[in-house]
Amino acid sequence: MKGFTLWFTGMSGAGKSTLGREVEDALLERGMNVEVLDGDEVRENLSKGLGFSKEDRDTNVRRIAWVCSLLTRNGVATITAAISPYREARAKARETIGRFVEVYCKCDLDTLEARDPKGLYKKARAGEIEHFTGVSDPYEPPEKPEVEVDTGSESIEDSVRKVLLTLEALGYIPKVEEAGYSSDEEKQIAKRLEDLGYI
Ligand code: ADX
Repeated sequence: MKGFTLWFTGMSGAGKSTLGREVEDALLERGMNVEVLDGDEVRENLSKGLGFSKEDRDTNVRRIAWVCSLLTRNGVATITAAISPYREARAKARETIGRFVEVYCKCDLDTLEARDPKGLYKKARAGEIEHFTGVSDPYEPPEKPEVEVDTGSESIEDSVRKVLLTLEALGYIPKVEEAGYSSDEEKQIAKRLEDLGYI
């Protein structure tokens, strides 16, 4: 089977890693080889020492994209979950990787600040962290993501299903007939991809 990269983007705490891990499980169940490049793990290893300036974030994203391209061309279902706040850097990642599926994890700032599992928004508001995405640093939302999920209002199961149905519609994974997959939802997803020019 051919590989692809699922590129999750969104602000800290928007659910990129959680959703990425759930999709990983679903793809493993379908017998695929899967790798996850999680933002926090990448920063501990591949990108250790990088900060959060635009330049460092772009370097981080470029490194992730390069690894994703190697895995993707070797048949791996590759999942990455980094904020990747800059549109241009994501566009370059798309170009580098080829079989690229952008998943925008949208979530309103009030919900993110209420969740704040790592206490980072609180620190950013208090001025203890500079250049914090969404508070004192930009996040440029994707204009044409293949998938958009609103993690503030939809369930994780719904979000996972959208991702899987999109991969099926793009022909990146085989279709499975499962109870609960309404054909209306399939049609909506195919229409979205058509309207955006992806199929
Ligand atoms: S990216 O912008 O380069 O894509 P990445 O996803 O790797 O970011 O790292 C984001 C994680 O680093 C956040 O989830 C958070 O835990 C931590 N972090 C520390 N400082 C910042 C900051 N200034 N802005 C955003 N995230 C930060």
